[in-house]
Amino acid sequence: QKIIFSAIQPSGKITLGNYLGAVKNWVELQDRYHCIYSLADLHAITVRQDPKALHDQSLLLLAQLIACGLDPQRCVLFIQSHVPAHAELAWVLNCYTMFGELSRMTQFKDKSQSHPENINAGLFTYPALMAADILLYQTDLVPVGEDQKQHVEICRDIATRFNGIYGDVFRMPEPFIPKVGARIMSLQEPTRKMSKSDTNQNGYILLMDEDKDILKKFKRAVTDSEMKVCYAEGKEGVNNLMRIYAAATGKTLDEITLEFDGRGYGDFKTAVGEAVVALLGPIREKTKEYLADRAYLEKVYRDGAERANEMAQKTLSDVYDKVGFVHR
Ligand code: TYM
Repeated sequence: QKIIFSAIQPSGKITLGNYLGAVKNWVELQDRYHCIYSLADLHAITVRQDPKALHDQSLLLLAQLIACGLDPQRCVLFIQSHVPAHAELAWVLNCYTMFGELSRMTQFKDKSQSHPENINAGLFTYPALMAADILLYQTDLVPVGEDQKQHVEICRDIATRFNGIYGDVFRMPEPFIPKVGARIMSLQEPTRKMSKSDTNQNGYILLMDEDKDILKKFKRAVTDSEMKVCYAEGKEGVNNLMRIYAAATGKTLDEITLEFDGRGYGDFKTAVGEAVVALLGPIREKTKEYLADRAYLEKVYRDGAERANEMAQKTLSDVYDKVGFVHR
């Protein structure tokens, strides 16, 4: 059976982009494959976090992931810092990752621009830790949004380099990117990806947003002056709304064009808002229930860490052997 690994950072609340680009896929893959999903808290501290907020966001994220449909009986769900092999393998891989290739990572370039006061070494070597996450589990597929594709590619380069020296230690992973939803854009600046770190709150939809706020944000979404619902170049705002509507309802872009033929943007934006409310409302309510059951959440992440740890240790000890470390 194929092995699936992916992770999400508990830095702030999750957005509609995270859901449509990644988590929705994670849920669908659970029935078919051996799935392992992680809360990437080690990655989160590459940007300065408030400790209490990081702690609470991690529990909230876990509750949200379960509410989205991740079933701890059918997938391994754990917190990255609970499985020390991630940090351990990351160190080894750091020594097989080149300064030049890390310098070319667009996320590093973006983040060093948006956080010029904290361009730390962890931010720079972030992809080596992400490669460790993936390679520890002998992963076949990595379901991510478009923005993580470059990181999966560097992971493959690192694995190829390591395997080239030591033989077949790591299985070669492939990115698995959804057809619709892989790149959800800001509702206010549709040329930029939807991100929780956006300063304009109208640009993103959070999974925990109340219905009325979701509707309001879609009503304010930026479109264009054409008044025609169709998917075309130069219509980034409308294209984005169409993709969201398609991902939320399962309709195709052609069906959507037909549905709104001769109708204005007002109608269209209301329909997209309502579709998203229908999608997220139940998730939000379930999240509140799971979040209130702290004992259950603890059980989930402890079981998850135990199972992940067992798998991760196998790869780590193989790697330690291969590089020549003495057995303890
Ligand atoms: P993160 O936490 O930024 O995002 C989690 C997932 O959501 C996707 N995503 C989007 N998809 C579509 N449209 C958007 N606007 C959008 N914004 C975010 C991301 O592509 C991602 O799949 N480095 C990773 C976490 C990570 C990881 C890993 C992923 C750590 N280790 C190993 C895969 C494998 C990150 O920061 O994702």
